[in-house]
Amino acid sequence: MSALSQHNARLSFTRNTRVDVRMSTSRFSYDALLAGPPRLLAGPGELTRVASVAEAVADRAGGPLRALLVVGGGFHRRSWREPVLTALRPFRVRLAVQPDMPTPDCVARLAAQVRAHRADVVVAVGGGSVMDAGKAAAAMSAESVITADRVVEACEEGAPSRGVPVVAVPTTCGTGAEATPFATVWDRRRGWKLSLRGGAVRPAAAVLDPDLLVGLPADQLAASLLDTLAQGVEAAWSTRSDERSAALGAAAWAELATLLERPRPLGPAERRSVLLAGHYAGRAIATAGTTICHALSYPLTLRHGLRHGHACGLTLAPVLRYNAAVGESDCADPRGPARVRAAIAGVARAAGADGPGDLAGRVESFLAAAPLPRVAGFGDADRIAVEALGYDRAAGNPRRVDARTLARILTNLP
Ligand SMILES: [Fe+2]
Repeated sequence: MSALSQHNARLSFTRNTRVDVRMSTSRFSYDALLAGPPRLLAGPGELTRVASVAEAVADRAGGPLRALLVVGGGFHRRSWREPVLTALRPFRVRLAVQPDMPTPDCVARLAAQVRAHRADVVVAVGGGSVMDAGKAAAAMSAESVITADRVVEACEEGAPSRGVPVVAVPTTCGTGAEATPFATVWDRRRGWKLSLRGGAVRPAAAVLDPDLLVGLPADQLAASLLDTLAQGVEAAWSTRSDERSAALGAAAWAELATLLERPRPLGPAERRSVLLAGHYAGRAIATAGTTICHALSYPLTLRHGLRHGHACGLTLAPVLRYNAAVGESDCADPRGPARVRAAIAGVARAAGADGPGDLAGRVESFLAAAPLPRVAGFGDADRIAVEALGYDRAAGNPRRVDARTLARILTNLP
């Protein structure tokens, strides 16, 4: 057994905690929920092991590995800058800064750096945009010609099947990008959000170290939690959901239940919970995908500059109520409306809520108290609704939606 697989059996902040997602039909252990890629190191201080994880997933042995370290624009100000560089000292490291949301140009540029450095591994340390940029660049680096147009094409056709392995190290919570086989790429010229998908996009390993969340700004935290909540419930009710994605989605809400009820600054226990919840939700959407809250969020981000999690969280409560009222005539899930209602009920129980109405009320209260910009309806609701329906994620919603319904949701936000 390799050192890494021994570590896989030692999830230091999860192994002694029983998961009770309060599903009516099943119980899942942490082992079952966390089975499959990415390989995982999780616990305070695990950042120090990032080099051993990278060695375990890299194809090459002998001599120091070459690593492209992808970080965000604020890397040099972060408290974890030195620990990251120290942990990667055994490697030949080149630093690549990804200051903003990844665009096709950024991905092409980063992929060229992966090639130029002859990187054996990409280590992405940052939030969702940094991890997505690193994932996309690592996958695209296998291409013979790397241009922005080729990145756009690959988003439409699927990522190359083999790229440089990625070790993802989240420094925010909520996105779950360390677990998913897709990367968001923002095509600002066309005003459209793209997704690069494929096995090569999924990180080979993830390091979840709750110490990296120390100092996470309150607005970023609130948006991240809303992203986790949206991803959790969408993976539970999606037409592509299965029992495991529903359990993972519910488990994410269970981890966040007390924070949802009583928002507060993060201590060690809360940092563990939010990181774990985000990872659960990431694994859940890796299987089930997201649905209409995420489809609506893309035009809200592109047109109104809302943070991703905030954009998802804005419509979460009304969509929750809407989907909970699904019937035979408008159910998009061939398994029928009872399955949709059961999935929502499972999430509500996990969160300690008394049904979907109570659950939606908790989300609204959290949003109202969150340190995020206030939003009072959208003058371009009709256009946002039409654009949202153009994203394939909209088709995963378990209750049929049309542009009028979505526009109504957007104009009646509390
Ligand atoms: Fe998301």
